Amino acid sequence: MALARHGATAEGGVDRPALSDDDAAARAMVRDWAAAIGLEPSVDAIGNLFLRLPGRDPDAPPVLTGSHLDSQPTGGRFDGVYGVLAGLEAVEAIVAAGIRPRRPIDVVAWNNEEGGRFAPGMMGSAVFAGRRDLSEMLAIEDADGVSVGAALEVLLAREAALSRRPLGGPAAAYIEAHIEQGPVLEAAGFAAGVVTGIQGKRTFRVTVTGAEAHAGTTPQGGRKDALSAAVAIIAALEPAMIAGGEAVMFTIGRLTVAPNVPSVVPAEAVFSIDLRHPESAVLTTLGDRIPDLCAAHRGPCAVRVTALTNEAPLDFPTALRDLIRAAAGAVAVPVMELTSAAGHDARYLHQVCPAGMIFVPCHLGISHNAAESAAPGDLAAGARILTAALLSLADH
Ligand code: HGY
Ligand code: MN
Ligand code: MN
Repeated sequence: MALARHGATAEGGVDRPALSDDDAAARAMVRDWAAAIGLEPSVDAIGNLFLRLPGRDPDAPPVLTGSHLDSQPTGGRFDGVYGVLAGLEAVEAIVAAGIRPRRPIDVVAWNNEEGGRFAPGMMGSAVFAGRRDLSEMLAIEDADGVSVGAALEVLLAREAALSRRPLGGPAAAYIEAHIEQGPVLEAAGFAAGVVTGIQGKRTFRVTVTGAEAHAGTTPQGGRKDALSAAVAIIAALEPAMIAGGEAVMFTIGRLTVAPNVPSVVPAEAVFSIDLRHPESAVLTTLGDRIPDLCAAHRGPCAVRVTALTNEAPLDFPTALRDLIRAAAGAVAVPVMELTSAAGHDARYLHQVCPAGMIFVPCHLGISHNAAESAAPGDLAAGARILTAALLSLADH
């Protein structure tokens, strides 16, 4: 709740874009809490924040846990934040028990998971995992033309006292605690769940180009109306994608029009595509149809489809899922297994080390919405499982 003050909205949620002043303030608050536990802070070149509990063996690859502090513009108070704070709670409990694990434990706040201000999301964890190129990400700009690099420079100047760490690095394992952002756990009456995997996701940016013209003097037949073409393209895309079955998740979340004034025929329309499915084959078939469908309905305009993300569905390793389930047993919290329909930083950690996730329920599965809420008892249950799992991993 204290963190939710940073970027608080009138609706009771948070609007805390990556690398904003509110994001910087949230990171500072988390660093203060970490300092009280004796954790050593460091930051890397893409802005990931690491809070380390040193282990007995400083050379042993660390166990990582954490999530993200940035939010969607209509974010709730739990998405991402829970995973960072559950990590801090786990380490605080380990320290309070007088335990010094063999491996270091790093609590991480990955930069720009949400991708609302700078697309694509999961930027920090993807660069950490070597899945995205640092310089390419630094060049990405927000709607005001501010680049990730420029915004990061401001943030790192504020965090100049922190030691800098190289990108990437060894990791023995990663566990992320997160609200489910779906209705399954609450409906089934479980306080926590072991996540089996994450569905696949493909994102695109579609740019439709026409020509400015006078709204009063230009005959309909002579126009290159980019918005009218975008509407025709979207009207064709949506049914074609949804025909892929009820598991298809297809979202056009952003549409910008230029010059976006009433009496000029639109010269440009740019829209986003977020396509998800649990099966690779369906994701491939549907995603591969997008360029042709856009071209077929462009009318007199030009259209360019830019692929941004193409991440296959993943299954977390059963050994880690078993370890998390055993940890839940050790703290007497009944769990069920479920998959994740939402994306998480664990997707990229999975590519560099054994990764796993612990879910806790959120009411009615509401998320990316100010009404997002979770019960303290469930949040604590998830943190207890995380603590037992981290201890088990850090002493292997
Ligand atoms: O979009 C996602 O799946 C994540 O919540 N950012
Ligand atoms: Mn999240
Ligand atoms: Mn989110």
